[in-house]
Amino acid sequence: MFSETLIKKFEQIETPFYFYDVQLLQKTLETVKNASEKYNFSVHYALKANSNNRILELIQKNGFGADCVSGNEVLKALENGFSPSKIAFAGVGKTDKEIKIGLNSGIFSFNCESIPEIEVINQIAHKEGKLAKIAIRINPNVDSKTHKHITTGLSENKFGVNYEDLPELLKIIKPLKNIQLVGIHFHIGSQITNLSVFKDLCIRINEIQDIFVAQQTEIEHVNVGGGLGISYENPDEDATARFEEYFKIFADNLKLKPRQTVHFELGRSIIAQSGSLISKVLYVKKGNSKNFLILDAGMNDLIRPALYQAFHKIESLTSDKQDSVYDIVGPVCESSDVFVKDFKLPEAQRGDLVAIRSAGAYGEVMASAYNLKDFAKAYYSDILQ
Ligand SMILES: Cc1ncc(COP(=O)(O)O)c(C=O)c1O
Repeated sequence: MFSETLIKKFEQIETPFYFYDVQLLQKTLETVKNASEKYNFSVHYALKANSNNRILELIQKNGFGADCVSGNEVLKALENGFSPSKIAFAGVGKTDKEIKIGLNSGIFSFNCESIPEIEVINQIAHKEGKLAKIAIRINPNVDSKTHKHITTGLSENKFGVNYEDLPELLKIIKPLKNIQLVGIHFHIGSQITNLSVFKDLCIRINEIQDIFVAQQTEIEHVNVGGGLGISYENPDEDATARFEEYFKIFADNLKLKPRQTVHFELGRSIIAQSGSLISKVLYVKKGNSKNFLILDAGMNDLIRPALYQAFHKIESLTSDKQDSVYDIVGPVCESSDVFVKDFKLPEAQRGDLVAIRSAGAYGEVMASAYNLKDFAKAYYSDILQ
């Protein structure tokens, strides 16, 4: 993945920094496009995964829509040329200010998560003289079999309306004049690698569609969210997620009503493998029972391991010595600032460079200034090469 020329360039740059492989991103976007267009599916890129301008520009140029979870993400999508008619706006707690941003931009739909939220959108839309297009986010109670912190589609999670409550909800929203119900929305979790879960979701969506038919309510679009997982273990061999298989599951199992369109909100699977966090070994510390590699990157740069016990493959860019076993940790004053324990890496010394792989999604966007550390900068393959 990293040529010698590139590593030489890395050696001139202050670490830690994020490096994005723009060519891989372009290839991934083309794969997603080809695999989804076959079925006429629309893909909205989930900005929450990575909202760097250069990344957004490339994704937008490839014709994707946007999936946003805050007013600022909606504004960012618009600034980067995404058409308002392709922007979905989700989120369990939209503020009045954010609702106004969505209304005044004329977005594709508000993905709404509760009756009180729909009532507030109706009131604000009335004041602004607008008609708000909404999709109801329904909690399908489908187990996504992923990490509990990124499971969203179980009835115990805070997201969406329980499908049992739909007839009541439809009764309440029918008289609301400034709301137009256009869609139903689902998102059951992230980093889903057991794809049969998506078949379970389709089956549940088909049952839910019957509730709408029984209520004589027509729905224009079905938004099935995101969640397709990637291989954190083999970022080179499996650089592209299983898009073909994924979209086929929906094409084979969703029973659509006439003229219904299908929408996806993919984040991680689009951008994760294109990003790496490049870091320098500060110290090799010999402990009683363990050896530690202390990096200059920490949980402030990439919080996923500390937050979700997520695994990121780490590779040495500058040592080809025999493997040694290390706990690879960051410099932050927290015991949880550990990237990986008991990990084999070529024997390292101060100054060696390492790449923390698959860090393009939920990496830089989640960075913080904790411990008053500087934010890692971003570099792009087409500019560096
Ligand atoms: C509502 C919604 N849509 C889409 C996504 C993107 O998910 P992923 O990055 O797993 O594709 C998320 C992320 O959790 C989300 O909350």
